[in-house]
Amino acid sequence: MASPKFSFCFLVLFVSSYGITCCLGDIWHPKEHAALFVFGDSLFDVGNNNYINTTADNQANYSPYGETFFNYPSGRFSDGRVIPDLIADYAKLPLSPPYLFPGYQRYLDGVNFASAGAGALVETHQGLVIDLKTQLSYFKKVSKILSQELGDAETTTLLAKAVYLINIGSNDYLVSLTENSSVFTAEKYVDMVVGNLTTVIKGIHKTGGRKFGVLNQSALGCIPLVKALLNGSKGSCVEEASALAKLHNGVLSVELEKLKKQLEGFKYSYVDFFNLSFDLMNNPSKYGLKEGGMACCGSGPYRRYYSCGGKRAVKDYELCENPSDYVFFDSIHPTERFNQIISQLMWSGNQSIAGPYNLKTLFEE
Ligand SMILES: *[C@@H]1O[C@H](CO)[C@@H](O)[C@H](O)[C@H]1NC(C)=O
Ligand SMILES: *[C@@H]1O[C@H](CO)[C@@H](O)[C@H](O)[C@H]1NC(C)=O
Ligand SMILES: *[C@@H]1O[C@H](CO)[C@@H](O)[C@H](O)[C@H]1NC(C)=O
Ligand SMILES: *[C@@H]1O[C@H](CO)[C@@H](O)[C@H](O)[C@H]1NC(C)=O
Ligand SMILES: *[C@@H]1O[C@H](CO)[C@@H](O)[C@H](O)[C@H]1NC(C)=O
Ligand SMILES: *[C@@H]1O[C@H](CO)[C@@H](O)[C@H](O)[C@H]1NC(C)=O
Ligand SMILES: *[C@@H]1O[C@H](CO)[C@@H](O)[C@H](O)[C@H]1NC(C)=O
Repeated sequence: MASPKFSFCFLVLFVSSYGITCCLGDIWHPKEHAALFVFGDSLFDVGNNNYINTTADNQANYSPYGETFFNYPSGRFSDGRVIPDLIADYAKLPLSPPYLFPGYQRYLDGVNFASAGAGALVETHQGLVIDLKTQLSYFKKVSKILSQELGDAETTTLLAKAVYLINIGSNDYLVSLTENSSVFTAEKYVDMVVGNLTTVIKGIHKTGGRKFGVLNQSALGCIPLVKALLNGSKGSCVEEASALAKLHNGVLSVELEKLKKQLEGFKYSYVDFFNLSFDLMNNPSKYGLKEGGMACCGSGPYRRYYSCGGKRAVKDYELCENPSDYVFFDSIHPTERFNQIISQLMWSGNQSIAGPYNLKTLFEE
């Protein structure tokens, strides 16, 4: 995909963005600078799970992950970049590194706390992931380090200008649908997930955050693995799963409006990820893609088994020729091409896609 020359340039940038000290600090203008802090799950993880004790289900640091853009498995659950990488690009920031990258302590441009497999509930894959609450505690540590470096006033400015991108919840719902037939009703479970998410948003706000980009739950029932596990056929999405996602989306939308009234300076972009992902999966050709239902990498019918890379329970897998024709890279996670389409719409889409603000406006405010 990327030409060799381009990859080389990218690698140089990568190294400098990962803290080989450079001149960026000297030309930094706090009042014009909007950093990017990222919270969430595998859709946003840029490699934090490479540094925790977990299982191959929650890691993507082996081939063929990363095969197109990076030419090595960086830990991202995609053939290439994930959404926060592409948003950083639009915002003219270096790629946000994983918070757990050893020795990394340069936070002026923000940092990424997301962890594959994580949920808003601490019980979700407990012990194998960095749950959302722990991600918040890491952010608080970062704010203390910034205060020591810049002083309180500049840190307040930096944190208030920054954008906080969050995607969480699908793992909570996948656990409740597949592994743990929950003792809770759907309504109660959604209230807990959204309740824990809004608690964390309030925690970020209390630490100084003001501008939030939050994704709607995707069309969960249409994810190939969910179809495999819950026995849907190729064409039909699993209604029970999508219904949970819709319930979550409605409750979260009400909560975000409440936060806007409660919290000083609170601004948000709520992205209609449900509709966008549903449309991409069901009408891929509208977006220049060829395949919305079958995964690029995996095994079984429509490559719906989560075996990409051969390090998980199922060892054999097939790999498609051209990931950029596909919505799904493995049976859960999207390709870079999908991420590009979504990121572009998150960045500059109209109010029916990202509202009340799109990310471009949030960054520029
Ligand atoms: C990592 O997890 C495995 C399996 O749960 C455990 O046996 C091992 O002791 C853990 N290692 C560390 C360093 O925590
Ligand atoms: C799974 O269900 C049990 C009760 O059956 C509960 O104690 C546990 O917290 C649940 N786990 C999750 C992730 O909800
Ligand atoms: C957060 O989740 C826990 C379960 O992990 C639940 O007991 C608690 O009520 C939730 N908090 C909110 C505010 O919903
Ligand atoms: C899948 O669905 C069919 C028809 O509803 C049913 O007969 C079959 O047992 C199901 N298979 C599994 C694994 O749930
Ligand atoms: C979120 O998802 C629902 C589907 O449940 C959709 O109808 C709604 O418009 C979405 N977007 C927003 C911004 O709420
Ligand atoms: C979501 O999609 C449905 C049908 O695909 C459409 O009717 C609805 O207007 C869309 N919602 C938004 C907020 O775009
Ligand atoms: C918003 O953007 C979408 C996709 O680009 C387009 O289909 C839709 O018509 C637009 N809606 C409005 C109100 O401009």
